[in-house]
This record gives sequence, C-alpha cells and structure tokens, in this order.
Amino acid sequence: MGARAAPIRSIATCRPLKACVRHGEVPGRPSGLAMLALQDDGRASNHDELMTGTHSDRLENGPLPPRAGVGLKPEHYREILETSPDIGWFEIHTENYMGEGGPPHHYLGAIRERYPMSLHGVGLSIGGSSALDKEHLARLKSLIERYRPALFSEHLAWSSHDGLYLNDLLPLPYTEETLERVCEHIDEVQEALQLRMLLENPSTYVAFADPAMSEVEFLREVVRRTGCGLLLDVNNVFVQSVNHGFDATAFIDAFPVEHVGEIHLGGHAADSDDDGSALLIDDHGREIADAVWALYAHTLARAGARPTLIEWDNDVPRWEVLFAEAKRADAAIAARRTNRIAVPA
Ligand SMILES: [Fe+2]
Repeated sequence: MGARAAPIRSIATCRPLKACVRHGEVPGRPSGLAMLALQDDGRASNHDELMTGTHSDRLENGPLPPRAGVGLKPEHYREILETSPDIGWFEIHTENYMGEGGPPHHYLGAIRERYPMSLHGVGLSIGGSSALDKEHLARLKSLIERYRPALFSEHLAWSSHDGLYLNDLLPLPYTEETLERVCEHIDEVQEALQLRMLLENPSTYVAFADPAMSEVEFLREVVRRTGCGLLLDVNNVFVQSVNHGFDATAFIDAFPVEHVGEIHLGGHAADSDDDGSALLIDDHGREIADAVWALYAHTLARAGARPTLIEWDNDVPRWEVLFAEAKRADAAIAARRTNRIAVPA
C-alpha cells in the first residue's frame, strides 16, 4: 500500500503558527478566519447581485475542494460570471490585485462570491537574503482579509535584494544558512498573516555545486521547523528532472506528500542548452505535457485527491481550452478516488 496522506489543516486552524507548532499546543481557530463550507450549493444566481462586488463579511474561508481549479485571468472574467462553469475553485496571483479598486477587484469580488479561492504570491522573495518587504506583506494581509481565501502559497525562491526587484523566481543553494533564512521569513509571514502558508517547490535551470541537502530534504526541514505546508508543482518536478537529470518518479516518491495542500500542473516549453542537452522552460504557456499528466497520476496514487491548479499564465487560451484541462485533472482525481489507479508499493 502507498502512503495515504492525512488531510492538511486549513490555514485557518493554527494560530499562532510558531507557538502551536513548536510547543506542541493544540491549535485554535483564529477569530478572523472562519472555516468554509464548500460553496457548490450556495452560489448566488442573481447576476446584478454578483456584480456589486465583494462583501467580506459574507465570505467564509476554508479548505479548497479536492478538485481542479484554474488560474483566474481577466480574459475570462465575463464568461465565468455569465456561465458559472463547474470549476472547483480559482487561484489568483496576489500581486495582480494589490491596488485598491478598479475592474480587477470588481470582477474578483463577484467571482469570489461564487467560488472558493486560493491566493498565490510571486513577490515576497521568501528565499532572499534581505528582510521581507513590510509594505508588501501589509498589502498581502489586506488582500487576505478582503477575500478570505482558503490558502495562501509562495515559492521557494528569491526575487528581490536591497530594494532591487527582479521579474523572476531565482534558485537557492540548499545550505543550512539558506534554510535558516527561509524559515525566519516563513515564520514572519505566518505570524503577520495569522495563517499557515504553503511553500512551492521551484523549477530551476541551474544547480548549485555540492548542496548540503537535497531539495526534498530542504523542504522537509522547512516544514518541520515552521509548520508550513507544501504546494507540490508536478510540472516543476518534471522540468527539473530533465534539466538536472534525475528520476522524477523517485522525487515524488520521496516527497512528503502528507504535507501537500495543493498541487500545480502547467505547461512547459522544450528548448536545448548551449551543449545541445534538453532544456525545459516552465513557461505556463501551453497544454500540460502527457509526461506530466502521467507523473500527476503517480502523485495522486501516493498522495490521494488534492486540490489541483491548472496554471496557464502566458498566451492565455479560450476558456474552453482551460476548462478542458481542468476536466482532465478532475477525471484523474475521480479515478484515484475509485482506485482505478494502482497504488505503488
Ligand atoms: Fe506552480
């Protein structure tokens, strides 16, 4: 039998994080973040009401359903509101909604009233050697209080240093020094936001010489020290396995799936290195590759059903194309539930 993961706790169930994890206390529920009953039956049907925007006192946060969700894109706002597609949940990039108002919040508020939501950050620079940007953290806190998402996640990467902001997620050396810095930053985020965040495994194109620990060992230790959960990006695992020459299935088998609160699937581009070696680029600009679907099925067999995001951020397709990818993920989850996927020994 493969490992059957215990359900991950909601971000709302552990407060304060550092205290309850490190001292073994029974976590209590924070007053400002209530648990969410899934909204499958409770979606408003009046279009005018939906277009009036978010009323955060009417929103409840709670676990995402173990179904497929998709990244919310402005290109699809109107169609989603007009057709109410059967999608489990939506995810947004927090940095796209850090302004106070305007059309993005108008549409996001209306869609949030119908669907569970996850917030995914790309700009906190969790792995950076500089202090976290307090203003960015404050804007993030406001967004969480406004939309009451089920989850908040960020990347094991760095993207800023000494006030210089880079539009990229850059790799970290897996050393004790880096580990301590990442854990300090996660402690700070979790205490500031009063939630349990998820940390996402990266896709990388270079590897550091002589790391002190593997990526999986590093992530395990981050979870142990901070109490955070993990976001497992299966496409990132596949991309790295090709770029760095390791066995993707063995990586999944070693991954601490019991701490995984969300899975990501996305498309990648095939390129080649200067020496002609295969190089995959995590571009989120196309359909998910068949090899990644196969690795996802293996992941589900190990981890059980998990909320699974279809990431498609560039060359955003028609809604029907994105919806079809989500249905494929839902079918894989349903197959796992009915044990039609073999569970590895
Ligand atoms: Fe991802």
